[in-house]
This record gives sequence, C-alpha cells and structure tokens, in this order.
Amino acid sequence: MRTCRLAASLLAADLGRLEQEVQRVEKALVDSIHIDVMDGHFVPYFALGAEVVQAVRRLTRLPIEVHLMIQQPDRYARTFVEAGADLLIVHLEAYHHPQRTLRTIRDMGCQAALAINPMTLVEKTYSLLDEVDQLLCMSVNPGFMGQPFIIEVLEKVRLAQAYRDKNHLSYNISIDGGVTDETIGPCVTAGANQVVVGRPIFTQKDACDATRLLRARANEVGAGG
Ligand code: DX5
Ligand code: ZN
Repeated sequence: MRTCRLAASLLAADLGRLEQEVQRVEKALVDSIHIDVMDGHFVPYFALGAEVVQAVRRLTRLPIEVHLMIQQPDRYARTFVEAGADLLIVHLEAYHHPQRTLRTIRDMGCQAALAINPMTLVEKTYSLLDEVDQLLCMSVNPGFMGQPFIIEVLEKVRLAQAYRDKNHLSYNISIDGGVTDETIGPCVTAGANQVVVGRPIFTQKDACDATRLLRARANEVGAGG
C-alpha cells in the first residue's frame, strides 16, 4: 500500500485559537504543519510570518514546513530556519538563484524543497532535484486557499516520480491546493506521497473524521495502484 502523508495548512486555521487548532490537528494525526508565507509581491496577498512559525514551534513537536511564497526567499531563509522550520519550500519562479538558495538552506541543517506553480513545466526542476528533499507541485495558483484543484498537476507528478525512480533519487512529491477527499485519490495514484490540506481539515467540526476520510480515500487507491 502506498502511503500519503498529510500536511495541515495553517492558513485555514482559526489563528485566534492557535493552540487549540494545533492540538486539534495533532489529535487528528496529521504528519506535519504547513505554514504559508506571502509577501504581497510574489502573490497578491500577505500572510503568516516568522512569529507564527515561532509560536507553532513552541506548541508542537510535529514537523513544520514553511512555504515561502515570497519574491526573495534567499533573503529570508535564515529567519525562518531560526524560527523553527524543519523544511523550507522555495519557488522556482521567485527572484533568486534556486540552486544557491537550496544549498544555503541545507547548509543551515534544514530540509529544502522546491515548489512550482501550476503553469511551470516540471522539466525545469530536473537539474535541481538532486538538491531537494521535496518537490512541491502547486495544484492551485499560489496566494489563496479554497481554490479548485487544477488537474493538469497530475501529469507533472507522474513525470517527477518517473524521473526520481530513473535517477535513483529520493525526494518526496507533495501536492498543494484544492486537495479534498475527491482529489486525494488521483494525487496518490499519480505518485504523490504527501498532500497539503487546508480547509478540508481545519474548517471541519471534527478534524479526526476529516483526516480519517482523507486517509481512507488515499488508501483505497494506493491499495489498488
Ligand atoms: C495556497 C496555499 C495552500 C492553501 C491550501 O496558496 O499554498 O497551502 O492553504 O488550502 P486548501 O487546501 O484549502 O486549498
Ligand atoms: Zn502552501
């Protein structure tokens, strides 16, 4: 059976009740917490900063992944590593030298991930994939939660998995945006071993029921494929 890890996207949480929200998803046995950072340049809106990462770090031992949807990730990498990130995700499309940024992150003892927007070809990441712990394929345009899943991401995930296996690499493949109990199955079949989920976990009354349903749907497919 293939396994699919669940990363709970904090953007969908009630931040006024941060401690309870973190406890709620811990109890629901998510595998990590995903924190979206937005700078109003790379994406039109602003969101969570290093203070939120620090606060979550104090509240949980779950791995924290920080998704930097910012124009200059190289400039802020250290801030987020020091705030407590276990994995730092930077975009190929940002203004930086991706290879240098990924190496800097790893040199600081943090895991490094590369993200691509829905319109970016996965082939553009190939020369960097031996430098990453995770490839994150966006299945919505970055910037907002609650958008519909862009199905074309699945072909990129298939290609990323084939490339990894052919080249004996070991990066995880994650899908971010619009993942629900309907879309998680196709994600796993395509080769994702992690999905990022915001609203379908945090806005549900019972987060345990929500993750149970997501895992059941992921496993149904994983068992067959
Ligand atoms: C989108 C963010 C996602 C978002 C996912 O820009 O990167 O992490 O929070 O939210 P859902 O799962 O609700 O689409
Ligand atoms: Zn994200």
